[in-house]
Amino acid sequence: MYEGLLKQYREYLPITDATPMISLCEGNTPLIPLNNLSKELGITLYGKYEGLNPTGSFKDRGMVMAVAKAVEEGAKAIVCASTGNTSAAAAAYATRAGVKAYVVIPDGKIAMGKLAQAIAYGADIISIPGNFDEALKAVRDIAKTEAVALVNSVNPYRLEGQKTAAFEVCEQLGQAPDVLAIPVGNAGNISAYWKGFKEWHEVKQTALPRMHGFEAEGAAAIVRGEVIEAPETVATAIRIGNPASWKLAEAARDESQGYIDAVTDEEILDAYRKVAAMDGVFVEPGSAASLAGVIQHVKAGKIKPGETVVTVFTGNGLKDPDTAIHEANVEIHKMSDLEEMRLHLREGVAQL
Ligand code: F0G
Repeated sequence: MYEGLLKQYREYLPITDATPMISLCEGNTPLIPLNNLSKELGITLYGKYEGLNPTGSFKDRGMVMAVAKAVEEGAKAIVCASTGNTSAAAAAYATRAGVKAYVVIPDGKIAMGKLAQAIAYGADIISIPGNFDEALKAVRDIAKTEAVALVNSVNPYRLEGQKTAAFEVCEQLGQAPDVLAIPVGNAGNISAYWKGFKEWHEVKQTALPRMHGFEAEGAAAIVRGEVIEAPETVATAIRIGNPASWKLAEAARDESQGYIDAVTDEEILDAYRKVAAMDGVFVEPGSAASLAGVIQHVKAGKIKPGETVVTVFTGNGLKDPDTAIHEANVEIHKMSDLEEMRLHLREGVAQL
């Protein structure tokens, strides 16, 4: 039976006999062949669907490790800043480990599904008028003076847990892909994947991919080479103007001969609709940034015809139902009469 990441990858993680082996059976997510998009783009494209983790995002991988280490070190409470997914994962794993979670979120800029999760898992929720970068600065300061463990990705155990996704990609494909495409917000995940690919290659000779990271244009600090004071994007998950792992992300890009580029909100929403409508995979807007980037890079020749590409779908589409409904532009047919429905279907089916 699969029992979660700490057991699965114990020998590759900083686990000691004193580490509590907490688990929600996170990890082990599917690598879904995106057949229709592959055909359209002329590449072999897979989606690493991290939205199927227990709290619906990749954050569970890093959080299980960070919370286990916090408990091992005697913490009774954890704290994080979040655009939503980190807070959901922190709240769930805190509950699991019997500690208290404090989560600090930007007021009004977090998707409803994520807020619902933090409430349900029983976190203490603090909303601030500022953005994620300001929230992160606040919790970093607070963790210095208060008896709480900071579980943002500046905590190195987070990246340790998150690197396991790269292990899985190599195991699922038999080797690393040519290109790993990934959204970039606070830049922890791209750094964790690169660490994972390097470690797995050292042990199993699975080769190394080129890392192609994508920031939202209104929050593209690394691309522009400057802190963005007021980041804006429809992809609230990656609405971050001063990424904490900036340097590590640049190292991943340079060592792998990859890229970090920007995608517009329009490109993000186009990719967001496309992967659901063409290949049946519903991801959140922040996650669609990686697919938007793949489409952009195929056009620009930065991804070559026939290459094997894995695009990381970091979070589940159900996290953000408001965006799904408002960006859909789809008519909902209201009918109360069975005959009316029968006719509607008959007319539709006749056109197939
Ligand atoms: N995709 C999703 C769905 C995210 O929630 C995040 C980050 C990212 C991508 C970017 O990953 O920060 O490692 O570069 N969300 C954080 C949060 C900031 O608070 O949930 P990153």
